[in-house]
Amino acid sequence: MPTLKFAVLAGDYIGPEVMQEALRVLAHVARQENLQLDYQSADVGGAGIDNHGKALPDSTLRVCEQADAILFGSVGGPKWEKLPPKEQPERAALLPLRKHFTLFANIRPGLLYRELTDASPLKTDRIPDGIDIVCIRELTGGVYFGQPKTTTTLPDGDVQAIDTMVYRRSEVERILKVAIETARGRKGKLCSVDKANVLETSVLWRKTVTEYVARHAPELTLSHMYVDNAAMQLARDPNQFDVFVTENMFGDILSDEMAVICGSLGMLSSASLGAGKNSLGLPFGLYEPAGGTAPDIAGKGIANPCAQILSAALMLRFSFGLDGVAKRMEAAVKKAVTGGIRTGDIAFGRPSVGTKAMADAVIAAL
Ligand code: IPM
Ligand code: MG
Repeated sequence: MPTLKFAVLAGDYIGPEVMQEALRVLAHVARQENLQLDYQSADVGGAGIDNHGKALPDSTLRVCEQADAILFGSVGGPKWEKLPPKEQPERAALLPLRKHFTLFANIRPGLLYRELTDASPLKTDRIPDGIDIVCIRELTGGVYFGQPKTTTTLPDGDVQAIDTMVYRRSEVERILKVAIETARGRKGKLCSVDKANVLETSVLWRKTVTEYVARHAPELTLSHMYVDNAAMQLARDPNQFDVFVTENMFGDILSDEMAVICGSLGMLSSASLGAGKNSLGLPFGLYEPAGGTAPDIAGKGIANPCAQILSAALMLRFSFGLDGVAKRMEAAVKKAVTGGIRTGDIAFGRPSVGTKAMADAVIAAL
């Protein structure tokens, strides 16, 4: 019986609530498919700070190192906001985790089912068939990690902060390979987003993309777009994109825009894939919902578990090679949310039926 060995890092606020439901769905799938679940839970984020004095405790890192994938919830919230910025859960847990495992490829599907188009802030006549695009974001480079990164008081008493944006050609090529594979599996359209009219890193990015695609993927339809225009085009006509690929910070911003036009933060999953392979020879990855910890609705049993369930499906696809099972889970989520649950509630990440009942509906559809 195939064994799925993964780490469960539920995190804070709604993290554990939606994680519990995703694990229940996974247990159901495992019974149906004759799979063995072998997961270990560990503290991360605020839970790490409270229980171990560190957002990413060493013991948690060990659990992750022994696993084939990480199923992640979400971290951070008001309880830890007064800590120095460098110690806050987001910066002290998520970013080091990405760096430690070289999780350079962040795949964020932007999906809005046709049945739920009125949950989008876009006019429904612009998206008659819903939205179906993918953001591929570089995740371990750029201004997030570039050195120097400092704040200093200058001789004249003024204070100066520096962040550094750095990219190497090899970093651009490796994220591009993921984007090319993704576009090949879809409509074959790839848009590279940069700011090549201003930034050196973007000039290198655009040159690298142009040359690499011409040589290795000439069958794709490649376009380039400045990031400010891309932000506008996403709001105007999102389905003009199929797959877009971009650097770390641009991807952070555009993927939030993508989330909102897709109607609900509670529906969006993501996969962060590493350079390294797991014990199955497949990409090691971290799988997390895009919505955050939602402290305002935590503890009420109303958070939408779908993004966590869909993230678990991505884990099965990429880190365990179970594409068929992942598709079945995705179809079950679609059936559950388009089958009578009020879209207005979904739009705010709160299924009208509650967290547990939403997961029950997914299980019933499996
Ligand atoms: C994301 C988040 C993170 C990021 C934060 C929490 C550090 O916004 O995954 O998009 O900026 O990458
Ligand atoms: Mg973000």
